[in-house]
Amino acid sequence: MGYKVAVIGATGNVGREMLNILHERGFPADEVVALASRRSQGRDVTYGDTTLKVRALDLYDFSDTDIALMSAGGSIAKEWAPRIAAQGCVVIDNSSAFRYDQDVPLIVPEVNADAISGFSKRNIIANPNCSTAQLVVALKPLHDHATIRRVVVSTYQSVSGAGKEGMDELFEQSRAVFVADPITAKKFTKRIAFNVIPHIDVFMEDGSTKEEWKVMAETKKMLDPKIKVTCTAVRVPVFIGHSEAVNIEFEKPITADEARAILREAPGCLVIDKQEDGGYVTPLDSAGEDATYISRIREDQTLDNGLNLWVVADNLRKGAALNAVQIAELLVNRKLLTERQAA
Ligand SMILES: NC(=O)c1ccc[n+]([C@@H]2O[C@H](COP(=O)([O-])OP(=O)(O)OC[C@H]3O[C@@H](n4cnc5c(N)ncnc54)[C@H](OP(=O)(O)O)[C@@H]3O)[C@@H](O)[C@H]2O)c1
Repeated sequence: MGYKVAVIGATGNVGREMLNILHERGFPADEVVALASRRSQGRDVTYGDTTLKVRALDLYDFSDTDIALMSAGGSIAKEWAPRIAAQGCVVIDNSSAFRYDQDVPLIVPEVNADAISGFSKRNIIANPNCSTAQLVVALKPLHDHATIRRVVVSTYQSVSGAGKEGMDELFEQSRAVFVADPITAKKFTKRIAFNVIPHIDVFMEDGSTKEEWKVMAETKKMLDPKIKVTCTAVRVPVFIGHSEAVNIEFEKPITADEARAILREAPGCLVIDKQEDGGYVTPLDSAGEDATYISRIREDQTLDNGLNLWVVADNLRKGAALNAVQIAELLVNRKLLTERQAA
C-alpha cells in the first residue's frame, strides 16, 4: 500500500531536499503533494522526474493525506500542525515549535527510534535542530560504550541553515565585495561574507543564544537528561554543511582507537580520520551526502576520560530533510500508520 504525502514548505531549502530524498529513497508514496504559501501557488518543483505544481497550504484539505513533512518555520507550524494532525494526518515538523513538548516525540532514528511510539498523543513528531541531529548521531554510540558526562561543542554553521535568504545574502555580499558595491546585511546581524558571526537565533537571559540552548535541551531530551552540554553556535560563510568541534568527558575510560572502531560500526556515521594533510572531512565534502562524518578523533590530554572530535554533516539532509524522511520510514516500517488508520 502506498501513502499520500504532503511536503509543506516545498519551495524552501529543506522542502526541496525532502522531495529529492523521498524520491531517492523510494519512499512508498502513491502521491506526493507540494505545498507552500499562496505566493508560490502554481510554481513548479521537482520530485524525481516529475514536476509538481505548488499548491497553497491554506487551501489544501488534509483529510486523505497520511503524512505531512513540514518545513515552513515555527509560526506556520504552531498554527497549522495541530489542525492538520486533527484531520488524521501525521505531521513531522522541522521547526522548533513542538520539540520541547512532552507529548511530542523528538526523533533521530539512529538514536531514539523507540520514542516514536508516543506520537499518537498529538499526531505530531518533531525533527531536531540541524546541529543537534548530527551531534547526537556521533554521541550515541560513544555514550552507550563509556557514558558521557559532559559535552563542550562549538558549531560552524552554514548559511543554508538560515533558509534561502541566508544563502542569497552570502552570495550577494560576496559578489559585492569583488565588484566594490555597497554591502548590506538583512538576514544576518553583521556581514557574513569573509566573516564569522557568533550569534544564531535570539539572545536568552543568561547570555546564551536560543540556538545554543536548543543543542543542550534537545541532546538531553533524545540522548540522556544527565549529560551536561554547553555550546557556542557560530555562523560561517559556507553555503551547505555544518561542522562541530566536540569535546567529550566520559565516566569510563575510552581511547581514540576504541572510539574510532565504535564509530566505524555506528549507524549513520562515517569515519574519515587519516592524520595527514586532507585526511578529514570539510563541510564542502559533506554537501549532498547522507552520512554524519567524523574526523580528528583524538584523546584530550587535559581530562581523565576525554576525547575531541570533528563532526560534519549536510544540514539540509541529516540536519533536516533526510532525518524527517527517515522518521516517515520508521512510521511505515513499524506499521504505525496502518494501526492508526485501523483504529
Ligand atoms: N535549513 C536548515 O538547515 C534547517 C534545519 C533544520 C530545521 N530547519 C527548519 O525548517 C524550516 C524551513 O527552513 P528552510 O531552510 O527550508 O527555509 P526557507 O528556504 O526559507 O523556506 C521556507 C519555506 O516555508 C514556506 N512558507 C513560508 N510561509 C508560509 C506560509 N504562510 N504558508 C505555507 N508555507 C510557507 C516557504 O514558501 P514560499 O516560497 O511560498 O514563501 C518556503 O517553502 C524552518 O523551520 C527551519 O528552522 C531548517
